[in-house]
Amino acid sequence: MNVPLLDLKAQYMQIKDELHAAVLEVLESQRFIGGPKVAELEERIADMSGCKFAVGASSGTDAILNCLMSLGIGPGDEVITTPFTFFATAGCIARVGAKPIFVDIDARTFNIDPSRIEAAVTKKTRAIIPVHLFGQMADMDPIMAVARKYNLAVIEDAAQSIGATYKGKKAGSIGTAGCFSFFPSKNLGGIGDGGMVVTNDAELAGRLRIMRDHGQDPRYHYKYIGGNFRLDAIQAAALLAKLPHLEQWSQARRRNAAYYDEKFAGTVVRPPYIQPECVSVYNQYVVRVPRRDELVEHLQANGIGCAVYYPVPLHLQECFRYLGYKPGDLPESEKAAKEVLALPVYPELTEQQRDYVIEAVNYMEISDRALK
Ligand SMILES: Cc1ncc(COP(=O)(O)O)c(C=O)c1O
Repeated sequence: MNVPLLDLKAQYMQIKDELHAAVLEVLESQRFIGGPKVAELEERIADMSGCKFAVGASSGTDAILNCLMSLGIGPGDEVITTPFTFFATAGCIARVGAKPIFVDIDARTFNIDPSRIEAAVTKKTRAIIPVHLFGQMADMDPIMAVARKYNLAVIEDAAQSIGATYKGKKAGSIGTAGCFSFFPSKNLGGIGDGGMVVTNDAELAGRLRIMRDHGQDPRYHYKYIGGNFRLDAIQAAALLAKLPHLEQWSQARRRNAAYYDEKFAGTVVRPPYIQPECVSVYNQYVVRVPRRDELVEHLQANGIGCAVYYPVPLHLQECFRYLGYKPGDLPESEKAAKEVLALPVYPELTEQQRDYVIEAVNYMEISDRALK
């Protein structure tokens, strides 16, 4: 049996007709940039996120970049974030000329540890970017408390967590702004790159709109030095076709996760911990295992897709050497990088596939006992 980490073809086969019709409509209209599809998607994503405004972006990365630029964050500023995330979170901070300040994670959730944030605040701090990793929101209440105390912006990196909740509030709706990615492997994946910013701040929404179109307002009059961060109409149409299925897909991911949780309980494989305040959308189902690399080999040999998100925390990346971090500085992130493994959790996973994964993962339990 073969179980890929993600089976996008299985999803495509289910919604092929809707998707084709949506894309064809844009082709027939020959309206590729902006237009009604982008506006409709923005309205729908704002609604489902419990936000007043949404501004499309060319990727999740550009959504974050646009937020930082629109908030006027740049050289001389510091932005606090987690080192245990995809590169883009911190890459954008550095690209606007600000300094990423990495704060270690909570060992259970893999998200930024709020209790360590205040100690990292300086006079230069302008913002916090918590990341809602793997589908679970960060512990937002204490993060917002620090932000209020020091008057900091909060940009939620919700690239992996569209539809997730924290105390009933949707990802992206708690901070100053929230950023989504529509990269194909995300829960709401486009047919190419795409992203979106949501916010309840009308003024910020206005700046985001101007900034994504080179900073022009009105046409050919440039208020800011912006960029081309626009979402294109074909992506918007494809995402509109997929959006009605999103909740059902997230539920299927949760069902698969619950099934795994039960089977892994009491074994050497530690299932993901979800805070009681959170509903996860399981963009990834990430376990911790001893001798992780041995399990990777075993799964691969048995035709099971798996991946390590993320093998090297950002504070130890070559490009961030100038920041002066060294091994041991952020021990929880470094430990997680050695132990985590993402297993297939996609909605179309069959019962047989799930059982096959469990059986293969249980090899660890058996070999662990043999070692003792
Ligand atoms: C946590 C996180 N932030 C940002 C991004 C960037 O999104 P994109 O790939 O759409 O640029 C991603 C996705 O790749 C992500 O997982």
